[in-house]
Amino acid sequence: MQTAAGSSVGRLMTGVSRFHNFGLINVVRSERGAAELRKRFPDVRVVATEHPGWTDDVRKAADGRPVSVALDPIGGEMSRSLMELLAPGGKLVSYGMIAEEPLSVHASTLVSKSLTVCGKNIISGWPAESSPERRSSDIATAKQIALTLTEQFDVAATYGLDDLAGAVEHAVRPGKVGTVLIRP
Ligand SMILES: NC(=O)c1ccc[n+]([C@@H]2O[C@H](COP(=O)([O-])OP(=O)(O)OC[C@H]3O[C@@H](n4cnc5c(N)ncnc54)[C@H](OP(=O)(O)O)[C@@H]3O)[C@@H](O)[C@H]2O)c1
Repeated sequence: MQTAAGSSVGRLMTGVSRFHNFGLINVVRSERGAAELRKRFPDVRVVATEHPGWTDDVRKAADGRPVSVALDPIGGEMSRSLMELLAPGGKLVSYGMIAEEPLSVHASTLVSKSLTVCGKNIISGWPAESSPERRSSDIATAKQIALTLTEQFDVAATYGLDDLAGAVEHAVRPGKVGTVLIRP
């Protein structure tokens, strides 16, 4: 499962999971965002966290299969809920820090299910941490993404350098789809 699934990163991840035929459950915060994702990826299950029973919706979407990995750029309370959903031996991959509150979880959740929590910083960590084989595999995936998922590279808006404040406001606007570009 992945959270913030409607983000630019999340949409590319959905595309990659389809190449490899991974079972994926997309998690978004609103029903509006869920509807948008269903239009793009009709065959991928989507759950909206605005519904109070959303964790049960994830279990239903998993249809009895173990949820083994959670990709999460949110953190905080969301990461805690994801760890509760993970199957024994599961892994939480934390790659963003959207939530302001800290990630707080009782050790029993980790211990009882032998969970792994790992942080990933693709931007600065990837070149140094990856083996040459991993790097060439990742570059092949990036090329595949660039060549085949062209419809997922939405541009939300383009701003000039003289309106950085407007660009920042737009970049964090709820419901924004795509990347905010800044041009000189
Ligand atoms: N670790 C790394 O190397 C790395 C690299 C790239 C990106 N990232 C991280 O990946 C994340 C996505 O980046 P992006 O450029 O793809 O983002 P983006 O297109 O701007 O999308 C942001 C997403 O976050 C959701 N969101 C915002 N605030 C939220 C909240 N409080 N609760 C739940 N969802 C929330 C938005 O949902 P709505 O549609 O509902 O507004 C939207 O889907 C960011 O956190 C970014 O920092 C990390």
